[in-house]
Amino acid sequence: MTESAAIPIGGRAAGCPFTPAPELYEAQQDPELRRATVPSPLLGAFDAVVVTRYEDVRSVLADDRLRMGGSMPYQAGNLLSYDGPEHTRLRRMLTGSFTTKRARELRPRIEDVVTSALDALEEAGPGADLVQTFCTPIPTAVICELLGVPYADREEFQRRTAIALDFTTSREVQMEKAAEMEAYMAGLVARHREDPGDNVLGRVVRDFGDQLTDSELAGIGNMLLIAGHETIASTLSAGIALLLRHPDQLAVVRDDPEAVDGAVEELLRYCAPAAILPRQAAGDIRVRDQEIKEGERVVASALAANRDLGAAREDLDRLDVRRPPQRHLAFGFGPHQCLGQQLARMELRVALPALFSRFPTLRPAVPHDEVDYRTNALVFGVNKLPVTW
Ligand code: HEM
Repeated sequence: MTESAAIPIGGRAAGCPFTPAPELYEAQQDPELRRATVPSPLLGAFDAVVVTRYEDVRSVLADDRLRMGGSMPYQAGNLLSYDGPEHTRLRRMLTGSFTTKRARELRPRIEDVVTSALDALEEAGPGADLVQTFCTPIPTAVICELLGVPYADREEFQRRTAIALDFTTSREVQMEKAAEMEAYMAGLVARHREDPGDNVLGRVVRDFGDQLTDSELAGIGNMLLIAGHETIASTLSAGIALLLRHPDQLAVVRDDPEAVDGAVEELLRYCAPAAILPRQAAGDIRVRDQEIKEGERVVASALAANRDLGAAREDLDRLDVRRPPQRHLAFGFGPHQCLGQQLARMELRVALPALFSRFPTLRPAVPHDEVDYRTNALVFGVNKLPVTW
């Protein structure tokens, strides 16, 4: 195994955040796997085997001897803290609420939420920040409704989420924010225990409440609240910033309803907002005939793997929203594959064409190079995107 330079925080190239860091591309070409230092204020910098090729990333994410436990601080109820049968048991309690059918049923409601956000953008006028007026309110309103969380509480939980997911936040502050989120969710769980609402949390309480502790329920609520708004907001902001740099591709999303589903997959492939997926080996395993020893940490790069899909690098480095569907790994793979992916797809498929149809001349109000990208957080996105039209 080759020892490599430290991987930059977030795994993205300096100056071009849509591109994997050069260290990841170099690792992909190396016949040997590489071991590198991965900076993490949460866990402290740690050494890990860095997996970057598409087939290797899939095999690592599918292998149940590579565990989540140990790679993140434990949080009761958070699926990302569990492995094996315990993970399957908890996940089964939630899958019924996140099916393709359920996402399709939510479409009319998502369309209403998107229309309100577009009205707010129009009212705010040219110069408005698209992240604040459009990208964040849409998934926040949807997940609040799905969970029965009051929309009025959004500023508090959005602020805590941003701090908790920032790679540069100290471990102490991360734990403090996690405790605040848990305390907030405990109140909501108590209300649902008394009177389970007709929403995802209410359904879990009604169907499985006797098998779950309050702290597990609070953890489930928090995981869904955080994953449900921050990831989609980030993908929307990154995807829109990217399309604004490629007006020909934007025109396809705006003008060809048939192309929207494929375009969303291409944006997910290209942005891979959750770029680095950590694991720890619970036994000796082999990847491409090389040994990873029990206890070793592994990080899988979805961003790098999404540029290794059997076509030429130059082709895959190009954004092409008409590309035939690719088996990208933006939602991960294997037992921990994203639970909310159908909901995410539906929100993106509704929001993107609606935005560009309503504001056909939309463009950034700052030069492309000055867009404020968020590369130092668990989920890549844009902090601020002032637009005009
Ligand atoms: C575009 C938006 C999204 C992206 C890019 C994304 C990405 C991911 C990825 C890569 C994973 C796997 C993590 C790993 O294996 O280490 C994951 C897991 C997860 N996601 Fe998403 N996600 C998105 C939206 C959502 C939404 C909307 C929800 C919920 C409403 C959600 C809930 C979850 C949950 C609960 C898990 C953990 C699943 C498990 O451990 O079994 N995600 N997501």
